[in-house]
Amino acid sequence: MTETLESIAEAMVAPGKGILAADESSGTIKKRFDSINLESTEDNRRDYREMLFRTEEAMKNNISGVILYDETIRQKAKDGTPLVDLIKAAGSIPGIKVDMGAKEMAGFPGEKITEGLDGLRERLAEYYDLGARFAKWRAVIDIADGIPTQGCIEANAEALARYAALCQEQKIVPIVEPEVLMDGGHDIDRCDEVTEAALRTVFARLAAHRVNLEGTILKPNMVISGKKCTKQASVEEVAARTIACFKKVVPAAIPGIVYLSGGQSDEDATAHLNAMNAIGGFPWKMSFSYGRALQHAPLTTWGGKAENVAAAQAAFAHRAKMNGLATQAGWKKDLEKAA
Ligand code: 13P
Repeated sequence: MTETLESIAEAMVAPGKGILAADESSGTIKKRFDSINLESTEDNRRDYREMLFRTEEAMKNNISGVILYDETIRQKAKDGTPLVDLIKAAGSIPGIKVDMGAKEMAGFPGEKITEGLDGLRERLAEYYDLGARFAKWRAVIDIADGIPTQGCIEANAEALARYAALCQEQKIVPIVEPEVLMDGGHDIDRCDEVTEAALRTVFARLAAHRVNLEGTILKPNMVISGKKCTKQASVEEVAARTIACFKKVVPAAIPGIVYLSGGQSDEDATAHLNAMNAIGGFPWKMSFSYGRALQHAPLTTWGGKAENVAAAQAAFAHRAKMNGLATQAGWKKDLEKAA
């Protein structure tokens, strides 16, 4: 079959499958390794990611694609096999994080703008040659007193649209990620309002930049209570509010919505996805592109020790399976207890 943007995007959200976000930047992976008292060396990062990509059960059955970091897409497994080849051998698609991180936005105290457009065309061409067929760019929208501003939302949406257009020119499917952070004390109503505003602006800019929506995947936050909010919305409310919000602003031409976990517990991230798919009645596939909610269990089980690899792989396979079931509304809490 000829590979097209549309066929890649469809494969990324195949039933029962979703994306493993393993694209932690050097700073973020160091934080994750700090939590298990492991030094963040190139070898340790390789061993950890190799362990995940060699979890055959998860990779074959439930992981449609893996988002890599620049170092990882060039790295080889201990036996010399490129890590990208391990992913492909499992029938999964390699992807690549291409943004250069969210930086302080000049003139907008407390807000961030994602950088990385300069030289992006050339970097994408190289990543294509290294095997990447999709990419990720993350914009960060924080909620606090007086923010986000429309200025921050617009600057980030413009960058996402320019990134998406360049990806498609280079035959790479863009994952468009405008993340409204859930770290604050705001309630679900405020998250709803900001998510709607951010998505409206993003889709207006994607249209202005002639981005092919059928070859684009959206990676949003769910509509959810801030972590520090005293009133936490129920699983059912998060599911219903997220669907209602997206129906207003996400075009039906988008093949799939893959959520970020954003600091939700492993089980909440699965339960929310399952609840949305149980409600149904929307035009997109709804799946996952989890980082922490897929990796927390294997990372802590592994702890940097070779003797824990099998148990860590089992923990990863379990989370991947639970989330795979959630893409088809087939997850139940009882399945967690049995594990
Ligand atoms: P989390 O699921 O840990 O939020 O990570 C997903 C991701 O790729 C954020 O950009």
